[in-house]
Amino acid sequence: MLHSKLTKGVKRDPSLPKGRQIDDISEKEIKELVGDLYFDRSQLIEALHLIQDKFNCLSQRHLKSLSELFKLSQAEVFEVASFYHHFDIVKDGESLDHELTIRICEGLSCEMAGAQHLIKNVKEIIDENKIRIQKVPCIGRCANAPAAQVGKKAVNNATPLKLLKFSKEDTTPEIPDYQNLSDYLNIGGYECLKKVIAKKLNLENAISILAKSGLRGLGGAGFPADKKWQIVNSYNGLRYMTINGDEGEPGTFKDRFWLESEPHKMLEGAQIAALLVGCNKIYLYMRDEYPAVLEILKAEIEKLEKTNFWLVPMEIRRGAGAYICGEESAMIESIEGKRGLPRHRPPYIAEKGLFGRPTLNHNIETLFWIPEILSKGSDWFAGLGFNENHKGVRSYSVSGRVLNPGVKVAPAGIPLRKLIDDYCGGMLPGHKLKAFFPGGASGGIFPAKMCDMGLDFGIFEPHGGFVGSHAVIILSDQDSILDAVINTIKFFKHESCGQCTPCRNGTEKLISLLSNCNKDVELYEDLMMVMRDSSICGLGQAATNCLNHLLKYFSEELNGTR
Ligand SMILES: Cc1cc2nc3c(=O)[nH]c(=O)nc-3n(C[C@H](O)[C@H](O)[C@H](O)COP(=O)(O)O)c2cc1C
Ligand code: SF4
Ligand code: FES
Repeated sequence: MLHSKLTKGVKRDPSLPKGRQIDDISEKEIKELVGDLYFDRSQLIEALHLIQDKFNCLSQRHLKSLSELFKLSQAEVFEVASFYHHFDIVKDGESLDHELTIRICEGLSCEMAGAQHLIKNVKEIIDENKIRIQKVPCIGRCANAPAAQVGKKAVNNATPLKLLKFSKEDTTPEIPDYQNLSDYLNIGGYECLKKVIAKKLNLENAISILAKSGLRGLGGAGFPADKKWQIVNSYNGLRYMTINGDEGEPGTFKDRFWLESEPHKMLEGAQIAALLVGCNKIYLYMRDEYPAVLEILKAEIEKLEKTNFWLVPMEIRRGAGAYICGEESAMIESIEGKRGLPRHRPPYIAEKGLFGRPTLNHNIETLFWIPEILSKGSDWFAGLGFNENHKGVRSYSVSGRVLNPGVKVAPAGIPLRKLIDDYCGGMLPGHKLKAFFPGGASGGIFPAKMCDMGLDFGIFEPHGGFVGSHAVIILSDQDSILDAVINTIKFFKHESCGQCTPCRNGTEKLISLLSNCNKDVELYEDLMMVMRDSSICGLGQAATNCLNHLLKYFSEELNGTR
């Protein structure tokens, strides 16, 4: 019976090879669109972006053509396309009806500023057949919460009427006033790079200056920059540099701030680092949520290419809405055109990174400080710290219940209370400090009584937290810590790449337990231990820091009292 059914199945056209066929129209469309891109695996995500930008979605026929042109299996292309939140896959013959997407952030700072009301209210006044409302994680505008994006246009302090108005206007990104190449040259920009080119500053001197200055990686891990240069330099042969502009940690917006105001400091720092460490090419991975930054970089790089300051070639790669691609090995996978799955270590990327080669990876802000430190000297930078135990300045992204949130350039090690009072105008009227996240969603949540602790690497670690990318989120007596913890763990669940069961299932389980105010502390401890100890990467390892602190400092909230 089964046999006869099978033999009666779909008849094969004898003029065609076996399997799904690609059609000429789709192939032509893709070739026209992809244009100058070479059909190399590492360009796959950019090709997906081009299709999504033009057709508002990825249809199966286009994905099939892409697999043919890139000489990849269809499964591989689907696997990559479906990993990233910014791609919408539809079946052949179907399309997405909406003409525009409004992304509304429901990260913690936006949630505290009423994001859920905004979402509800905006849905009542827009035509959802034409406009899609998407709830998204932090878009790096937490100081202007609630934040949203209409098409590619950023909207600060969004209201339903503002979103409605913006949806009827031009939705291309608004480019802020920034220091362009000639402005930067006029104030002595690229002088430090000139010294490197003229061999007046070599790797050994530079490493010694960086070591004394105390510059540490500002992407989150705080690894000393000088040591990283030494390690990558110790490997032979072809090597690469990557720049991490993913900035997905909720509460963090300092990299955007610097790139939208002084992009050339980072670009000069990148050229210096790549030249001294001997990197053959630079890949700059920039999050897709920052379209204005992408335009600024494109314009300024085009100008730089025509100068003598462009010695190491640089390619920009767009992320596609996946927080995990900020983890350096996942970022490398993404640059290689794959899903952003963190790699097992060792080997570390300094030895075997991009395309299997030694890779120097830095955060935007780390590179931003390099020209100035190498020009003004280690004592200048080190002396900017809060006291002799803390070196340098940091760009704190401050959001939440303070009067003047924003990027605050303040001494490393400054106590939280002083940061709020001296740099943020104090708390919002009527709000009393209750708790703070010192390092975004990952760095844990601490009670007001710990506000005299200095904000620096190594201070919060003994208490199960860290400053990471220095994203400081302030909560007041009007906020629920339990709600903040649920919001945070929901974020990690959404962004988990799914490779490790403890991270994938643990985040889900915790949300259901916390949402039901389950009080089984032993169960929480057990889950936290498994997630911390058996997750491959920092996401799963740090996802429970805030829960640990809820149990330690705010346990009354599980009993329903604030
Ligand atoms: C889950 C996760 C997300 C991360 N996201 C970022 C990011 O968005 N930007 C960044 O620079 N570093 C991020 N990092 C840290 C990077 O892995 C890496 O340490 C950093 O880019 C190194 O550059 P630095 O030494 O200059 O800080 C993340 C790490 C983890 C575990
Ligand atoms: S810990 Fe989570 S995000 Fe990291 S590799 Fe495992 S599943 Fe992926
Ligand atoms: S922009 Fe909403 S939390 Fe960062």
